[in-house]
Amino acid sequence: MTKTMILSSLLGVSLIAADYSSIIESPDATAMIKKDLLSPAKVYEMPKECISSDPKVIARGSFMFHNLNGKKAKGKAPEGLAKKQMKPGKTYLPGDKIPHKQYGNCVACHNIEGAKGGGNVGPDLTGYKSMFMDSGIRDNAFVFQKIADPRVDNANTTMTINLTTKLFTTREICDITSYIVSDK
Ligand code: HEC
Repeated sequence: MTKTMILSSLLGVSLIAADYSSIIESPDATAMIKKDLLSPAKVYEMPKECISSDPKVIARGSFMFHNLNGKKAKGKAPEGLAKKQMKPGKTYLPGDKIPHKQYGNCVACHNIEGAKGGGNVGPDLTGYKSMFMDSGIRDNAFVFQKIADPRVDNANTTMTINLTTKLFTTREICDITSYIVSDK
């Protein structure tokens, strides 16, 4: 009796399984997962004109560093930045909603001069110029790469990846880097 039950339940399962496989739609999960996966860590060369002491560049870098996205961003965006931005490559028709610009969210994890409620997940970047730049511990290219793709420096980092993910453009990362390494 027990043997028959086991046999029939085994058969039942296999029959049901065979049936289901023909009626259940099975999308290609591998392709879907691939789309959501991050591409591997990427080494970037810092462009020649990247670092600037132009106050407008520093103002943009500071604004991106201290703010979340456009909806939550405080104050007026400095020259050259907008609170709403069309996604590059996307066509917008009249009446389409233009998304809020994504800013850096850096203060969520880092403290720095003037930060309101700076986080402590990442190192405190206060006094970065004298402590890390003037001392020669870091250089511009390191800071640029760290922001562009921090996994190159630390494969297990919890920091956001900004250039490989296209959250920011190269120029925007140059603006943020210019701000971090500037005299404040
Ligand atoms: C989710 C938390 C988090 C966010 C958001 C974040 N960081 Fe970081 N950051 C870290 C951690 C953690 C480190 C320490 C090194 C590591 O693990 O990669 C770090 C390291 C750094 C360093 C290297 C400091 C040094 O010289 O060792 C810089 C520069 C930096 N972050 C800049 C930024 C900027 C600019 C932003 C915003 C675009 C940002 N971080 C956003 C967590 C974060």
